[in-house]
Amino acid sequence: MTAIQAPSLADREAAALLPTYARQPVAFTSGSGAWLTDDEGRRYLDFLGGLAVTALGHAHPAVTGAVAAQAARLVHTSNLYLTEPQVALAEALQRHLGWSDGRAFFCNSGAEANEAAIKLARRHGLAQHPGKVKVVSLLGGFHGRLLGALLLTGNPAKHAPFQPLGDWVTHVAHDDPAALDAAVDDDTCAVWIEVVQGEGGVRPLSADMLAAARAACDRVGALLVADEVQTGVGRLGAWFGWQTTAVEPDVVCLAKALANGLPIGAIVARGAAAAAFRPGDHASTFGGNPVVAAAALAVLDTIEREGLVDRAAARGRHLAAGLEDLAARHPLAVGERGRGLLRALVLHRPAAAAVTAAALERGLVVNAVAPDAVRLAPPLTVTEAEIDEALTLLDRALSAVEDTA
Ligand SMILES: Cc1ncc(COP(=O)(O)O)c(C=O)c1O
Repeated sequence: MTAIQAPSLADREAAALLPTYARQPVAFTSGSGAWLTDDEGRRYLDFLGGLAVTALGHAHPAVTGAVAAQAARLVHTSNLYLTEPQVALAEALQRHLGWSDGRAFFCNSGAEANEAAIKLARRHGLAQHPGKVKVVSLLGGFHGRLLGALLLTGNPAKHAPFQPLGDWVTHVAHDDPAALDAAVDDDTCAVWIEVVQGEGGVRPLSADMLAAARAACDRVGALLVADEVQTGVGRLGAWFGWQTTAVEPDVVCLAKALANGLPIGAIVARGAAAAAFRPGDHASTFGGNPVVAAAALAVLDTIEREGLVDRAAARGRHLAAGLEDLAARHPLAVGERGRGLLRALVLHRPAAAAVTAAALERGLVVNAVAPDAVRLAPPLTVTEAEIDEALTLLDRALSAVEDTA
């Protein structure tokens, strides 16, 4: 009699989930710090952090403790009522942004944060004159998959299956200050930027581009919105990415690392932008509920207490030097780009998927952020020894792909 084999997790997924994800062939079951363990007990060094999310690493006791304590007390009430953790989180963000006039709104994801900022920018624009609803955003930018955030996203291939999405967004090249200036007119309510385009291949914007965005907004009374969903909360070696530049936005969008993996999104608006919304203009049933707010407070508190912002800058320099060294020794690699602990190893040809797969086989988690770029976003708590180990594994992965070429 032949034994009936239990279906694999991948087979069960195919029979039960909509096929939106092309997943890697691994199922993780636990994590600790910069390490993950899969369902066969194999350990991996996690240099992706759940897409730049687990800034404190996996199972950080401060987050686990805050979530457990809050969940034991009160999980949810809706935003019809006041809850202390949400207000305390908004106050902490004001402090780290340096915006005493900053006002926050909480939601559940990066795309939702961008959607909230779109509505805020429209409200701000329409208070000036009818029709002031247009947005200028950048090619290569990524802002999420909900319909408004998708249209902001500067990737026409992602728009194509869902057209029409509307005509209120103009995209300009990510490094063309003159084109940006020309695209912004009196009907523009906002310009959207990422200080470092994350999903666009870890591409820092030039100082000229950032200055042009700020100047164009000031010229027409539009808001400069910095999507800091990937770059915020310490990752670039500053609390927020814009603090590494000469330009200050009017609105920031946050998510990802803010609660170390619990679903949260936020916008913080300052100045006139903070006065644009009225009660009823926007809402979220779960947004900023006591558990996610407690988790986010634990994240911000830990980053501050342990000096992780400066540490991210220092570890980022160590990682960048190691990637440059790999690029000098490997014919496949060109160099590296990024800031702080958001980095990409840039390749000569579109082999990032092969390098990522070879790295995973060797116990290193990274991802192919572009066909020719491998992204690394380790936790802010990563040690130099862990960085050196990751570089050794990446070295071997590059050699393996070079050998099969
Ligand atoms: C800059 C930026 N904005 C928005 C998003 C969308 O975030 P979410 O997937 O939480 O909706 C992402 C996700 O990668 C992002 O990197």
